[in-house]
Amino acid sequence: MNNPVEPGSAPAVETFGLVRRFGDFTAVDGVNLRVGRGQFFGFLGPNGAGKSTTIKMLTGLLEPTGGSVRVLGRDLAKEPLEVKRRIGVVPEDLNLFERLTGAEMLTFTGRMYGLTREETRERGRELLALMELDGEPRKLVVEYSHGMKKKLSLACALIHRPEILFLDEPFEGVDALASRTLKDLLLKLTARGITVFLTSHVLEIVERLCTHIAIITQGRLVVEGALDELRRGIAVGEGDGAGDNPVSLEDYFIRVIGGARPAGEDVLPWLA
Ligand SMILES: Nc1ncnc2c1ncn2[C@@H]1O[C@H](COP(=O)(O)OP(=O)(O)O)[C@@H](O)[C@H]1O
Ligand SMILES: [Mg+2]
Repeated sequence: MNNPVEPGSAPAVETFGLVRRFGDFTAVDGVNLRVGRGQFFGFLGPNGAGKSTTIKMLTGLLEPTGGSVRVLGRDLAKEPLEVKRRIGVVPEDLNLFERLTGAEMLTFTGRMYGLTREETRERGRELLALMELDGEPRKLVVEYSHGMKKKLSLACALIHRPEILFLDEPFEGVDALASRTLKDLLLKLTARGITVFLTSHVLEIVERLCTHIAIITQGRLVVEGALDELRRGIAVGEGDGAGDNPVSLEDYFIRVIGGARPAGEDVLPWLA
């Protein structure tokens, strides 16, 4: 009652000067992020930019070297369990137990989150069906393909109805059909007010799904904002063909990270 912060209206995620060092290498270098509730947020950057390191720090899987993280108005370092109860995570390494079946993995996860046996069974069944993982009920996780593991990890991340879903490269190694299912599902979740935070380097997908993006390169944020506004900003700034030639996210990304190769440069001439 005397709490000066009203957690109900706090942003989904906020970071303040977030830093992570590995030895004397700085992987994440003073990142200030703000993700509003209900946003579909794409965290972009080239390989090795610091995306996975950041998402691990946002979800309590890795401790920051410096700075702080607030999730749903709560300090992650001070209230890790309260935060973890309310978020779902599909991390880089998926965090599954290989010797369980999909249904067992979901049962374990649901019970761990404090769902009743009944809720766990019912939701687990629906999630397995949705992910099309119900065809071979005896199959162990160790026998799953990479795409199947990814879908199971997503099912586990959803079973307790999280308020924020964190996904590290969700479209990586997933077939076209599963990718479509996943896109539809994520759009439904955001329509229901769930915040989605994903990392990706697949720009076309991000372009179609995300409302807000941030771009990180070499551990530093270079851009953050609403995708529409960012795109308009650059189109106006560079006088790009009066709107009938909108800047694609790919063009934008390459400009922002400065990775464009001079046209016509001869790459690996010995290959020709
Ligand atoms: N545990 C670790 N030990 C040492 N270096 C690491 C570790 N994890 C990540 N890094 C380094 O930090 C940088 C960022 O990695 P990462 O966050 O995985 O990038 P991204 O997900 O954007 O591809 C890379 O240079 C990577 O080699
Ligand atoms: Mg990564």
